[in-house]
Amino acid sequence: MSDTNQPAARERIELEDIGSNPSPEQTIGSLIARRLSRRAALRGLMGSAAGLTFADQLLASATPAAAQAPAPAASPSSLGFREIAHQLTERDAVPEGYEIQPVIRWGDAVLPDAPAFDPQRQSAAAQATQFGYNNDFIEFFPLPRGSRSGTHGLLAVNHEYTDPHLMFPGLTDEEAARQKPTREQALTEMAAHGMSVVEIRRENGRWAPVRESRLNRRITAETPIRISGPAAGHPRLRTQADPSGRQVLGTLNNCAGGSTPWGTVLTAEENFNQYFGGAAAETGAQAAAYKRYGIVAKAGYGWGQHVGRFNLDIEPNEPNRFGWIVEYDPYDPDSVPVKRTALGRFKHEGCTYAISADGRVVFYSGDDERFDYVYKFVTARPWNPNDPAANRDLMDEGTLYVARFLDDGRMEWLPLVHGQGPLTEANGFASQADVLIETRRAADLLKATPMDRPEDVQPNPANGRVYAMLTNNTRRKPEQVDRINPRPSNAHGHVIEMIPPGAGTDRVDHAATEGRWEIFLIAGRPGVDAGAQYHQGTSAEGWLSCPDNCAFDAKGRIWIATDGAPGTSKVADGLYAADTSGPGRGLTKLFYQAPTGAEVCGPCFTPDDETVFLSIQHPGDDKGSNFASPSTRWPDFNPAMPPRPSVIAITRKGGGVIGS
Ligand code: FEO
Ligand code: CA
Ligand code: CA
Ligand code: CA
Repeated sequence: MSDTNQPAARERIELEDIGSNPSPEQTIGSLIARRLSRRAALRGLMGSAAGLTFADQLLASATPAAAQAPAPAASPSSLGFREIAHQLTERDAVPEGYEIQPVIRWGDAVLPDAPAFDPQRQSAAAQATQFGYNNDFIEFFPLPRGSRSGTHGLLAVNHEYTDPHLMFPGLTDEEAARQKPTREQALTEMAAHGMSVVEIRRENGRWAPVRESRLNRRITAETPIRISGPAAGHPRLRTQADPSGRQVLGTLNNCAGGSTPWGTVLTAEENFNQYFGGAAAETGAQAAAYKRYGIVAKAGYGWGQHVGRFNLDIEPNEPNRFGWIVEYDPYDPDSVPVKRTALGRFKHEGCTYAISADGRVVFYSGDDERFDYVYKFVTARPWNPNDPAANRDLMDEGTLYVARFLDDGRMEWLPLVHGQGPLTEANGFASQADVLIETRRAADLLKATPMDRPEDVQPNPANGRVYAMLTNNTRRKPEQVDRINPRPSNAHGHVIEMIPPGAGTDRVDHAATEGRWEIFLIAGRPGVDAGAQYHQGTSAEGWLSCPDNCAFDAKGRIWIATDGAPGTSKVADGLYAADTSGPGRGLTKLFYQAPTGAEVCGPCFTPDDETVFLSIQHPGDDKGSNFASPSTRWPDFNPAMPPRPSVIAITRKGGGVIGS
């Protein structure tokens, strides 16, 4: 969700992202900043030529880049498509020579017994068999398993949240629609959350779901899920329905995600706070812990009026069972998903992996809240490529770290281990389970660096660098600026690179506790928005705002999806591509522009790079838009149909590699 372009959406983000870190200004970075001279800081960034150049630009006053620099005659970008023009319309757009195919829409059949979608007569039972709402993360798993097929596979898709005012006939007010659902609406929304697994095939150039596939699956807010890892069974995870603290119904607000080297899906529970409410938020024994996660008395969703476990006064521990990374096997529709508590509890945006030089697997994850943190988890043991069973519970043992960025260009990963440093009984941590259940408070005590809303954090296999999309943070005050978050009132966000030892070689030490960082770009309109920084060849169409999700193609180029282009800029959200090395490094180009009201999520390439899948989320979610009178009826443009969140495939007409 965005917080900048739609007043209608603003109150929602207030609830889900209230910036609940109480002491964001206490950064080690800001302390160091006072000690380091400008010259010394510059010297620290001299690890690479690109870093020096960029640091120099950062230290200069907010000089616009592209607006004053004539575009070079021949673009240094390796991306061969002809950039499209920014737009804000009912429709979406791709470059000449490319085409958009709808793959699956909200309400389309997933399970073989699904009824035809009828928006006037929705039910929880029907929705539990149909594609859910607000698709976000996408991963493509080739079929047969272990192949590199680019034309046949499983799509694993997250359904992050619901917009009842756009879903159900007769609702107009967005807030009332969320907070006062009928019982059937609440149950239907619960069924529209979770995930879908859909077998898809490309024949004669066209992608289509395989209707009768036995692999097709829905996971909803009511699917039984196992809890594993150090927090499993802890008293704070026990409820009346589950005295074991090891089994929970459903997964919520699944935003981005990732995969594992052994072929499972990871799905990230993000803004879980908004489903829970009750007086206990202010008066209960866990009030302080609720507050740090943004759980307040008045829930954003009114499900608790019908389903007791969402009411804190009935079930105070239920929210402790959300905010985790969930793993499931997309190839086995009967597999039980697992919440992996060793990776910590926060508003996980996504979870992506790199294999460290010694074979241990490192998972990166951002906590998407203003002034919250970047994390990584390092497995205790290497993974075993030859024995899938040996990897089954690999994510249950390892070390969770949080990032501290120093102003001299270095960074440190601080271990969140019970008994170490301040993570002791004296500070309310009786065990590792307590550290994990209250990951945010543990990271506060370690003095991690408060960031500008970390969304996707993803390693680029081509150069070993790890990219973090910092989507925005308009609440950062000038005195809270540091070098990794260099802009006050950051409305447009920026993209940073974390550089582990060995990056650029074939032995990258992703497990290391130290590294370096650089800034890749600072978003916004060059020459208009203070501090915007790109490659000087970035065109008037190539600037972006509010980076959210990203993907890398086989050439190591970054594809950035945006969420929240400010209304004043008259630009819809989109997908932008840039080189990450060479003369075109940081030269973003606009490849896809979404319909009005939508954000773009889940860029995902097939192994042959001939298709990129995108999640088009909340089309038509503009101010005043509702089921009867939406700002767009994308993708059907049928007067009988509301706008429908959908997964699309973008391919080249006649075939070929995207962006080549
Ligand atoms: Fe669900 Fe942080 O986007
Ligand atoms: Ca977002
Ligand atoms: Ca989203
Ligand atoms: Ca997101």
